[in-house]
Amino acid sequence: MANWPVYATITGPIVMIGFGSIGRGTLPLIERHFNYDKARMVVIDPSDADRKLLDERGIRFIQTAVTRENYRELLTPLLTAGGGQGFCVNLSVDTSSVDLMKLTRELGALYIDTVVEPWLGFYFDDTAGPAARSNYALRETARAEAAANPGGTTAVSCCGANPGMVSWFVKKALLDIARDTGVTTPEPTDREGWAALAQTLGVKGVHIAERDTQRTKKPKPMDVFWNTWSVEGFISEGLQPAELGWGTHETWMPDNGRTHEQGCGAAIYLLQPGANTRVRTWCPTPGAQYGFLVTHNESISIADYFTVRDAAGKAVYRPTCHYAYHPANDAVLSLHEMFGRAGQRQAAIHVLDETEIVDGIDELGVLVYGHGKNAYWYGSQLSIEEARKLAPYQNATGLQVSSAVLAGMVWALENPNAGIVEADEMDWRRCLEVQMPYLGPVNGYYTDWTPLDHRPGLFPEDIDTSDPWQFRNVLVR
Ligand SMILES: NC(=O)c1ccc[n+]([C@@H]2O[C@H](COP(=O)([O-])OP(=O)(O)OC[C@H]3O[C@@H](n4cnc5c(N)ncnc54)[C@H](O)[C@@H]3O)[C@@H](O)[C@H]2O)c1
Repeated sequence: MANWPVYATITGPIVMIGFGSIGRGTLPLIERHFNYDKARMVVIDPSDADRKLLDERGIRFIQTAVTRENYRELLTPLLTAGGGQGFCVNLSVDTSSVDLMKLTRELGALYIDTVVEPWLGFYFDDTAGPAARSNYALRETARAEAAANPGGTTAVSCCGANPGMVSWFVKKALLDIARDTGVTTPEPTDREGWAALAQTLGVKGVHIAERDTQRTKKPKPMDVFWNTWSVEGFISEGLQPAELGWGTHETWMPDNGRTHEQGCGAAIYLLQPGANTRVRTWCPTPGAQYGFLVTHNESISIADYFTVRDAAGKAVYRPTCHYAYHPANDAVLSLHEMFGRAGQRQAAIHVLDETEIVDGIDELGVLVYGHGKNAYWYGSQLSIEEARKLAPYQNATGLQVSSAVLAGMVWALENPNAGIVEADEMDWRRCLEVQMPYLGPVNGYYTDWTPLDHRPGLFPEDIDTSDPWQFRNVLVR
């Protein structure tokens, strides 16, 4: 696109926390799509690995970690200097989203992040039990803050590709399925309406079904963890318990499945790490494939959002929802190595940048299943070649995330008093309108595939033939 639209003016300072793969990729999108005062933009990161990009633009860089001890003192002057409404763009790891949201809302500054992140130490705290280390617990802290202090300055929670964009894809997919199964309905205007639509369509669940085929020019050496986005982030979430939004149609739970005592009740967790938990899923390019059931905020938020309750508050309909992630082959190999030594991480970690990748796409979408046309995958099939042409400093995975951050920032600027929101609660059409130019081909595919295809094979299996879309059939055991 030759003439990129400028969407809004950011009247106060921009404070970006974290300048890793996503921060680096978001910077050119901010430059392209907003009016703002560059002299008041600040980037904070304990690592100066990419400081050159900031120096050559004259953007201030503070080389430090944002911590529980220093965040108020550090950020307050930065977010208020010079007047106007500041914008805090949190693309770091190990910084508490909820504490940062509270502060920015106190200051009247807008806020966005891509995950409900905790302070350093949470993910590997061996004194906390699995439930306490879950994303369910993290999300509940954000939801509790939203409920305790409704409305007010907008803070967008979890607005990357997933969590984030995929919530917008689910709504688009539901409308496509309604159209193609002859269900005439006006587009729902509220949460209850969307949940009722999913129920009417007979949707049993949603996989966030992803296949990253990006290949490196050089093969991965031993004892290093490679990924196409944050290795820190992936290892942290990968060692959290596997978690999934738990549908009302499920009749079986694995022996190590657990429910939560408190909160929305939309999800369960398994007593095993998500990145070592495989599920059967489907993406357009590979067809049937294994994915890892890594915990993510959207597994819980989507299941929660589409829950239908009776007058007594009991959930009478909810779709199952979980991630089914086949990362880049080098990341699969990295996980294999890591779990081969009981989850001890490799000596070195590395995020692959756009210059190290030879080809491939990140095929990231939602597989909505159980309805009249069986299953429908809707998503982005962005290639590394196209990503390189569209925006600098990122691979295909990064651009799917940074463009969702852009969409979330535009939405926040257009809706500055919406309180704490998740992607499910935002205007999906507006957000996708902003993001679409960066997503490469975005397509929908119906498939006849079910997790019972070609099963049982040569060995007996514990499957439920009465309903292909039971988690019992999806989970690899
Ligand atoms: N929702 C999504 O789709 C999605 C996708 C990718 C990444 N993410 C999340 O976005 C975040 C950034 O991902 P990334 O790929 O850029 O990660 P990265 O590992 O490449 O970069 C993270 C950066 O944060 C910095 N950092 C670490 N501790 C910090 C602290 N205390 N204060 C400030 N900065 C600190 C690191 O030095 C690093 O530069 C992660 O939390 C990741 O989980 C979300």
